[in-house]
Amino acid sequence: MTNISVTFKPLGKRIMVNSGTSIKDAIEKAGISFEFPCGGKGKCKKCFVQILEGIEPPTLLEKTNIEEGLIEEGFRLACLTKIYKDSVIDVMEEESESDHKFFYRGSSREVELDPHLYKSCINIDKSKLKDYPSHYEFLISGLKERLEVNLTSLRRLEQVLQEADDKITLLTDGKEILNIEKGDTRGKMLGMAVDIGTTTLAGYLIDLVSGQELEVVSMLNPQTKYGCDIISRVTHVEEENSLEKLHKMIIDGINNLIDKAVENSGVSSEDVCILSITGNTFMHHFFLGINPSGLAHYPNTPVIDKGLKFKGKELGLKINPGGIVFLIPVACGFIGADAISVIMDTELDRADKIKLVLDIGTNGEIILGSREKVLAACSAAAGPAFEGPQISCGMRAVKGAIEGVKFKDGDIELSVVGNVKPKGVCGSGLIDIVAGLLNKGIVNPSGRILSAEEIDNLTEDSLKQRIKKIKKTNAFLVVDKDSTSHGKPIYITQKDIRELQLAKAALYTGIHILLDNYKIKSENLEGIYLAGTFGGYLNPESACTIGLLPPDLIDKINVVGNAAGSGAKLVLLSRKELKRAESISNIIEYVDLSSHSQFNSLLPRFLEFSDPTSRKND
Ligand code: FES
Repeated sequence: MTNISVTFKPLGKRIMVNSGTSIKDAIEKAGISFEFPCGGKGKCKKCFVQILEGIEPPTLLEKTNIEEGLIEEGFRLACLTKIYKDSVIDVMEEESESDHKFFYRGSSREVELDPHLYKSCINIDKSKLKDYPSHYEFLISGLKERLEVNLTSLRRLEQVLQEADDKITLLTDGKEILNIEKGDTRGKMLGMAVDIGTTTLAGYLIDLVSGQELEVVSMLNPQTKYGCDIISRVTHVEEENSLEKLHKMIIDGINNLIDKAVENSGVSSEDVCILSITGNTFMHHFFLGINPSGLAHYPNTPVIDKGLKFKGKELGLKINPGGIVFLIPVACGFIGADAISVIMDTELDRADKIKLVLDIGTNGEIILGSREKVLAACSAAAGPAFEGPQISCGMRAVKGAIEGVKFKDGDIELSVVGNVKPKGVCGSGLIDIVAGLLNKGIVNPSGRILSAEEIDNLTEDSLKQRIKKIKKTNAFLVVDKDSTSHGKPIYITQKDIRELQLAKAALYTGIHILLDNYKIKSENLEGIYLAGTFGGYLNPESACTIGLLPPDLIDKINVVGNAAGSGAKLVLLSRKELKRAESISNIIEYVDLSSHSQFNSLLPRFLEFSDPTSRKND
């Protein structure tokens, strides 16, 4: 097979590949961070690159999947296109970790320190060592209680005794010596709460002696290269037998987070003694290296739902050799440890009045409850439209994403992540645009983009001029091609609006069913809590305008940030909180929306962009 060279711009990376290699495989071989939202199936049309040299005439597949104008300019989909000669390919821009936007803010709820592990320092007199039958007997002679010892500690014991002067420190859970360190290291006791999101891994490094948060770090979940959504990744596991690879990606990702956090804080990863892990049930299984395939198929039963404890070493985590890992329990296949963590942080399980929590990420989780009862549902249709893969110019909230839009003085004002030329629109930006178009009458309540002649009472010609025809349907031009980073215009198309309507209707239908099940009206809710990155950037007014949230509750909307991460912090700091997580997992009632008798009949009612609470007979 002929070898050809591929040079990737603007990075200047050059690699050799076999002729006939797909651009996707070449990108992966070059180690370039590039997203394939549909897992490289040619469905999402998000993996555009521009071939500058070495281009071949378009194949039929490319012709049917890419607009004509773009084909002529050398744009191709990386997952559908193969290269046969030396090529120069513009991947537009490599996404770096710093491009990744993560809503750091979470609550800093006070919790009494009730550590899972502790360190005790003992004074030793090495001249007496010879008087004991073994080093172990010498060691425990300094203890008030007799403790068991693990193999890691035994292997280290002789060396630590040799190197120590007159003090050694034991890491213990009260029953067993987990590790032995020379000197007095009691002040070096750290933990990390880790939230394994489908899109983002986030870690909170905490000093377990003072309870102080030292560092917050995040990164893109490395699994995203096998698809933005969970099902693409499960399919990859089923088709490519790649469970081990995807499991390792999570472990390596967490090790990277630990490295980054300890380096930034000037401490050592050996000081990290405890990890608490939260995430949805799929991520929970991937973390453990358990095949999550069963979760994707009826009856969607997890392999294990209980809270778990493992040694960090067993899982390949680079923490203290005696360090332990707690996994927060999951409620069921669709309601994971992340939902339990969110309930803990928002104190839904302790509330006298009923609260509604929405965690809109890759899936939309809806949780309703109080100390009496907690109902939870998952609206799988919500995520993709809000996060981007099904929206023509949609993208996640990373550098270049339009995250906020204001209609002002006949023009639109954009906020772009990273203050750079825009590349696409993320969920919060999309909701702002559609809310603005509704307010201006450019989109009517049924969701149709009107042509300029059909719009009443709009005097702003500059906005009317933004209405264009794409494949015979109206679209709204958000940014023209000269002002974007990739030279392609950014539109909101009629199909995008239909996707948004479907997503918001699915979410609102879920809310409606839960309220109904709880026998409560929305006006009687104590508050609505928006969790997650998307919730953090969402403009509540726009969300109410499009009917995603009940408009009469606009003053009761609270943004709680990464509540899942905050819940994991509680578990990290306190044994009582771990027990609380376990008790919450037992009281959650899962409401399966996909098989709910009312779901399909209710959904069409909420498709329109009118105020859903004003509808009759709900
Ligand atoms: S079309 Fe290429 S990754 Fe989706």
